[in-house]
Amino acid sequence: MGSLPLEFEIYRCPTCREPFAYAPDNAGGDDLRGTLTCKRGHNFKVDVIPRFVPDEGYTSNFGRQWAEFRKTQVDSATGATESRDRFFRGTGWPERMDGETILEAGCGSGRFTEIMLGTGARVISFDYSVAADVTHDAFASKGARVSQASIYEMPFKPGCFDRVFCYGVIQHTPDVKKSFFNLVEMVKPGGYFAVDVYDAWKWIFHSRYRVRWFTKRMEQEKLLDWCRKIVPAYMKIMPPMHPYNQLFFPVKDYRGARPGFTEEQLIEYSILDTFDMLAPEYDQPQFRGTMLRWAKEADLSDVHIQVGGNGLELRARK
Ligand SMILES: C[S@@+](CC[C@H](N)C(=O)[O-])C[C@H]1O[C@@H](n2cnc3c(N)ncnc32)[C@H](O)[C@@H]1O
Ligand SMILES: [Zn+2]
Repeated sequence: MGSLPLEFEIYRCPTCREPFAYAPDNAGGDDLRGTLTCKRGHNFKVDVIPRFVPDEGYTSNFGRQWAEFRKTQVDSATGATESRDRFFRGTGWPERMDGETILEAGCGSGRFTEIMLGTGARVISFDYSVAADVTHDAFASKGARVSQASIYEMPFKPGCFDRVFCYGVIQHTPDVKKSFFNLVEMVKPGGYFAVDVYDAWKWIFHSRYRVRWFTKRMEQEKLLDWCRKIVPAYMKIMPPMHPYNQLFFPVKDYRGARPGFTEEQLIEYSILDTFDMLAPEYDQPQFRGTMLRWAKEADLSDVHIQVGGNGLELRARK
């Protein structure tokens, strides 16, 4: 066993929460490929990044999505400030967080990883899908520590993060309440928690819930191909009507609706989000009252909930 590289010190065994020892595949080599083993003998591979899950489970659609749309929502690539604006408006967190450690759950392509790195905080991100590799490729060199892991088996010591951030994720997990509580568990006493979730009114009004039973079972490549064809075709015949078009058509059409993006970028963004709403295995919006009840059950203080970019944004302290 070699000594534990600094990169891996934050991790604990997701099964028993014991610290790891590390064995490189290639002793004396300069890459970090190897195996993390806890005291009880649970093993996890490190290749490009540490992998704390055997595969992508129910999230392979997201792995595919973020490999395809790596930069579509990343501010530094688009020139827009949407991710930055949504992050600070939603969390109410300060622009500088030097010296703090933030845990980001479900990082996707890293649109918010980038914003958090810009605050001077240490950012520890993970995603269940191979989107983790996308965030790693883009932001490891800027300091992000990324792993492939699940909210249901997190490779960290509970209560050790100054802040926990999770946007765009929990409605896509099988047990939304458990996801909420697992994330809260990672916040240290007095720390901050920010999470968002689709608002339950979507269930009533969004046409996607009338077709998802079918589209989520489609072969992902075929569905992506459909989105690439149907979204531009729809735009040719229909005027821009975001968000009302979604009452009748399960198509995202962001033309003219998102400041800072070019029309060409908005077509790509619409294709991404059409796939994003039709492909996931789980899509479980929540009521405001439910979120507030969970916050109370979790004994959170300073709870604030508002309607934001993705639905309901909740922030609180532990
Ligand atoms: C809609 S994407 C949002 C990504 C990013 N947070 C953003 O806002 O752009 C949802 C992400 O959550 C991840 N995810 C879903 N279930 C998860 C779980 N149990 N643990 C960790 N990540 C999960 C998916 O793989 C996907 O990348
Ligand atoms: Zn273990």
